[in-house]
Amino acid sequence: MKTKDKRKPSGYIGFAVLIILFIASIVIVPRVSQSGDMLIIGNTRLPMSAFAGVMSTMANLCIILLVVFYGKTGFIAAMILLIGQTPIWARNLIVTQQMGSLPGIFSTILTLIAIIVIRSRGRKIDQFQEEKVEQLIRQREQSEHLFEQTALALVTAIDAKDEYSHGHSMRVAEYARRIAEEMGKSEEECQKIYYAGLLHDVGKIGISDAIITKKGKLTPEEYEEIKRHPVLSNQILSSIRDYPYISIGAHYHHERYDGKGYPDGLKGEDIPEIARIISVADAYDAMSSNRSYRKAIPQQIIREEIVKGAGTQFDPEIAMIMRHLIDLDGEYRMKERETVRELAGDNEMHCGEYRSEISTGIVLTHTPTRIHLSYRDEEPGDGQTAPAIILFDSLDSRVHEDEETIRTLNYTEYCEIWLNGETVSHEIRAVRTDVKENAPAAAKANGRTVYDLEAVKCRDHVLISIRDGSRTTEVTVALPDSSRYAYIALTGKHCYIGDVHIEKAEEAVPDSYIPRIAEEISYIDGPVGDLPNVQVDGVRSAASESVPVKDKLLITFHAMSLPTARLIWHCPYIVLFHSADGRVNGEGYREYALIRLDGENWENDNHIPTQIIVNREESFESWDAWKQKNKEGFDCAVLITRRGNKILVSTKNLGLSVTSITVIPEELLNEDTPVFAALTGDQCALTNIRIRESNVE
Ligand SMILES: [Fe+2]
Repeated sequence: MKTKDKRKPSGYIGFAVLIILFIASIVIVPRVSQSGDMLIIGNTRLPMSAFAGVMSTMANLCIILLVVFYGKTGFIAAMILLIGQTPIWARNLIVTQQMGSLPGIFSTILTLIAIIVIRSRGRKIDQFQEEKVEQLIRQREQSEHLFEQTALALVTAIDAKDEYSHGHSMRVAEYARRIAEEMGKSEEECQKIYYAGLLHDVGKIGISDAIITKKGKLTPEEYEEIKRHPVLSNQILSSIRDYPYISIGAHYHHERYDGKGYPDGLKGEDIPEIARIISVADAYDAMSSNRSYRKAIPQQIIREEIVKGAGTQFDPEIAMIMRHLIDLDGEYRMKERETVRELAGDNEMHCGEYRSEISTGIVLTHTPTRIHLSYRDEEPGDGQTAPAIILFDSLDSRVHEDEETIRTLNYTEYCEIWLNGETVSHEIRAVRTDVKENAPAAAKANGRTVYDLEAVKCRDHVLISIRDGSRTTEVTVALPDSSRYAYIALTGKHCYIGDVHIEKAEEAVPDSYIPRIAEEISYIDGPVGDLPNVQVDGVRSAASESVPVKDKLLITFHAMSLPTARLIWHCPYIVLFHSADGRVNGEGYREYALIRLDGENWENDNHIPTQIIVNREESFESWDAWKQKNKEGFDCAVLITRRGNKILVSTKNLGLSVTSITVIPEELLNEDTPVFAALTGDQCALTNIRIRESNVE
């Protein structure tokens, strides 16, 4: 690998001094050698011509130093300088016939030979060094790879101690790395944090299996025993001297920001940052995974826990980053991959009474989900036996039947689809079934019928195609306008379902993949103001056109949460940014601030501080009332004031006053980088957007 020549300015000064000294010597030597003047030093009189030899030697020394210290560049410069002397020799010997120049010529020729020798030796040394560097890099990559493999083997062994911590360390490592990336850490730092996350629980290897795998509550003694694992981790990992941060991360990952953690009760920033990152990632994974005593917690409830724990359990800034990652994770991908594993791992279900066995839900997206299964009749009670699919939405991706859970987890059952093509509708707008005969009914293998299903969701439509060898049944469902997610779960009645294999297709399908059976509902049919209306279906999935922020800008608009909105942050946001084309996420996009109307803050750019002040006024009743008023729709005004690089955004809405102050570093601002403001949000319709600009007096 070749490295770039990163010479310091002092290096260039030395280069220039050598050249100047050489030229000066060459110009002065003929004059000094012919001079009859005497130089008097004390009582000694020296002829000036005696210095000609000294200066000639100095010129040659300059040439040699150029080659020694400046490699190829120095060599080229030296050759030019030496060859450049040729006309002077020629003139001295041929025109003026000064034979005194002959020693100088011989000395120059010798210097020329010397620098050629030095250069060829230097090249060999450079080549050797380059090979050495390449070899070292290769060795480093190999040892890093070996380290990663060993670490993975070790964590697999730890996680295998308990079926409920399957994949825990790898997920914690991955979440910790994502947090570090959001914090703006370098690639090398992110990698260190990844390794520390991977090995954070290594001390569990020294805790008895009986305690680790215990189903149910631990006794105080058992809890004390398990609390030893960070110290054990530290003891094990401290022998890895080249990577000290790994043992630090493991040692302190159960410390709490308020000082109530263990083992040392460290507080705030006394806890090493790497451990504060792992602590948040660890808690998130613990909540989003199944445990022996509970199922995985819905992501939006985890989000609330993270927000509540900011400043007590967690470092507030790192908690805020985790909250942001949750908001970006619209499909709840940051969790144990159990939806597929649980079903495919079991690979079979024995269904007695209808819905006595129901698999976990699989979320449907633009990327088709393919399910292969075989089915056979079992205990045909009333003659009706069949597998079925339940199409639903729920915060925890599971089917529920009891009233309270249905309410708490926002459970909505859209419809039931029997694999023989019958459907039972609940909360949907329309359903259509198309049957295509493929071939004569295939003989059942071992009394089983094989089904291949494909399910896909595009906006508010779901298409489920069921192929059983003889025919393909396509069921298209138009979901209600309040739907956000759609899951399918397998169930059945008096049947055995086996050989279940689930996979996701590689490519997503376009929105037009499912022919519409119901009109798309638009919430932006209202009056249009100065900018076109915008419907934001998901987290910042759309944004309004932008307006340059000069002095004073008043943006008014009508905001209404979409029927899918159910959480506080499903509201409008204001974004301050720059991009070459003035569009949100346009070319060269740089976001300066994002201000949510609910007052929650998210700084996208760590280098651009935004201070947000939120005040609840007397008219603020409660967050539930605030959400309700958002649903009903309200008129909103946002005042943006700019003074140089300082931008103030203030808005009052529904009893909440939000003011933000953003200071954009001067170096980011010039005439070519105007600041723009635009509206966006999460699950809201923004209409009648009007702009008023004025100058600040
Ligand atoms: Fe731990």
